[in-house]
Amino acid sequence: MQTYWSSMAKRATPYVPGEQMNEKYVLKLNTNENPYPPSQAVIRAITEAANTDLRRYPSPDPEQLRELIGKTYDLTKDQVFIGNGSDEVLAFSFMAFFEPGETIRFPEITYSFYPVYAQLFAIPYEPIPMQADLSLDIERFFHSEGGVIFPNPNAPTSMAIRIEEIRKILEQNPTRVVIVDEAYVDFSTKSAVSLINEYSNLLIVQTTSKSRSLAGLRVGYALGNEDLIQALIQIKDSINSYTLDRLAIAGATASFFDSLTTKDNIKKIIQTRTWVSEKMKAYGFQVLPSETNFIFVTHPKVSARQLYAQLKQRQVLVRYFNQPTISQYLRITIGTDKEMEQFFKRLDQVIKSCHRLG
Ligand SMILES: Cc1ncc(COP(=O)(O)O)c(C=O)c1O
Repeated sequence: MQTYWSSMAKRATPYVPGEQMNEKYVLKLNTNENPYPPSQAVIRAITEAANTDLRRYPSPDPEQLRELIGKTYDLTKDQVFIGNGSDEVLAFSFMAFFEPGETIRFPEITYSFYPVYAQLFAIPYEPIPMQADLSLDIERFFHSEGGVIFPNPNAPTSMAIRIEEIRKILEQNPTRVVIVDEAYVDFSTKSAVSLINEYSNLLIVQTTSKSRSLAGLRVGYALGNEDLIQALIQIKDSINSYTLDRLAIAGATASFFDSLTTKDNIKKIIQTRTWVSEKMKAYGFQVLPSETNFIFVTHPKVSARQLYAQLKQRQVLVRYFNQPTISQYLRITIGTDKEMEQFFKRLDQVIKSCHRLG
């Protein structure tokens, strides 16, 4: 077996995404999707784009969308790169800015795609241990040989560091690129976008999958200095000229024209997150201070693995990570108020049965 595989294919250890059970009765709180639909304007734009023009290739450079995203963040179109989901943008960034043989750093507890890319591209990495409260140990990211990448807010811990701390990491890595993955930043107040014009080594990666309710459309983007963006274009155009299809360009453009629905949905999710966190605490859970659309929780008396399994039996999917340091935690996506009420009904049964067993 693997007779014809390249060494790259052989060393690849693919990322395993959260289970996708799409039956209507399943309460799916395991992949941090937005529980609210995108705006009607987005659906209309995609529907209108589904016409006979599909026989034609899309634009290899969606300039209007770059311009629009740039405007949203007070940047120029030359400071914006767009790709097929932020996972693709991240993969291109590893290729564009990290060097095989030079060790990069990322947090020990973080988005599990980073070690996958590092291994695929033969980039050595040093996972940086978390502090006791699972926050980032900032100083250990200083003077990295190959560069730095971390999400802010971090996943799955849900916690964010302050812009001043990001500034320190940038200043202590002046010759290396620091990638800040802001997949969840719209549920927080700590975006580092304002630092882009100050630091030429800062690349920010964002997505339309979470706050903009478009995980199914696959549009992510990077924001940074023109020279970094040019490197990403160089990589993309050496792999695939058309990473964004016509429907994705149309839908994402409509989403950035109409940010009101997005803002409304973010507000609702933050409100739900607040009461859900309080209620979890009342059940005896420790809830990390979340700045995302999910919470990361642990119970001193009930095993997380057991909770995960029992919730699944009751058709509730949450995310359990079978790995050191966080094997006692569960990551729970914030759904609508109604979904979270159903979640608590089923959690209540589970907790009662765990106490009976325990
Ligand atoms: C931290 C982080 N970055 C990036 C992504 C990828 O998002 P997408 O490829 O949907 O844009 C995710 C998805 O869950 C994530 O959690």
